[in-house]
Amino acid sequence: MDLEAAKRSAGEAAAGLLEDGMTLGLGTGTTARWFIEAVGARVAHGLRVSAVATSLASATLAARWGIPLLDLDARGVDLAVDGADTVDPDLRLLKGLGGALVRERIVAAAATRFVVVADETKLRSHLAGFVPVEMLIFGWHHTMTLLDQTGASFNLRLDAAGEPLRSDNGNLIADGEFAPIADPEGLAARLDAIPGVVGHGLFLGMADLVIVAATDGTLTRLEPARGASPTLS
Ligand code: A5P
Repeated sequence: MDLEAAKRSAGEAAAGLLEDGMTLGLGTGTTARWFIEAVGARVAHGLRVSAVATSLASATLAARWGIPLLDLDARGVDLAVDGADTVDPDLRLLKGLGGALVRERIVAAAATRFVVVADETKLRSHLAGFVPVEMLIFGWHHTMTLLDQTGASFNLRLDAAGEPLRSDNGNLIADGEFAPIADPEGLAARLDAIPGVVGHGLFLGMADLVIVAATDGTLTRLEPARGASPTLS
């Protein structure tokens, strides 16, 4: 199978965790999309769930499939399923290339169980690459100066028209390239401490399960502390 089929396989495998009555968190991106479609197919066959979407794009897709949507409330969600850009052996994640990192973190943190779906190319020996940061427009030039002091040069993310990209929250996004990230927890703490930063793409200690699909058709479940368990199929 090709990479797209592997993403689909991971997304559909996560749908095996669905239970009637659940409130779901719907992630964003090309892998989470397959989970949303699998949920939609089950809703069409009578599954009763409701869902919180992590982006306008995922909300649109969910609505097209007839998945009842609601705002995140104090009860949180039972199961959140989302993609990742990189997963390291400790199941630390880099997320946010799709620009939905802040809502993704809010929903993941509100989930009883946070499940990540990924194709095998996302598994790396260490976190490296672009770390996205969402920041308020107020004072953003100075926020960028502080971001550049964390060890990478940050660039404002632009949209297709070459204009500064606005997140679904109306904020700006900047990306800093780290190769590798020697101390993910330390970097996360430094980013969290910068005024104006709303959120970043380091999701550390959050994943309860990572479902990895390979192009040879195998599915692997990775859980914190226990590491890889035998393939599912
Ligand atoms: C969206 O903001 C991101 O966090 C995505 O979840 C992440 O980029 C993975 O996306 P893909 O499944 O499209 O690779």
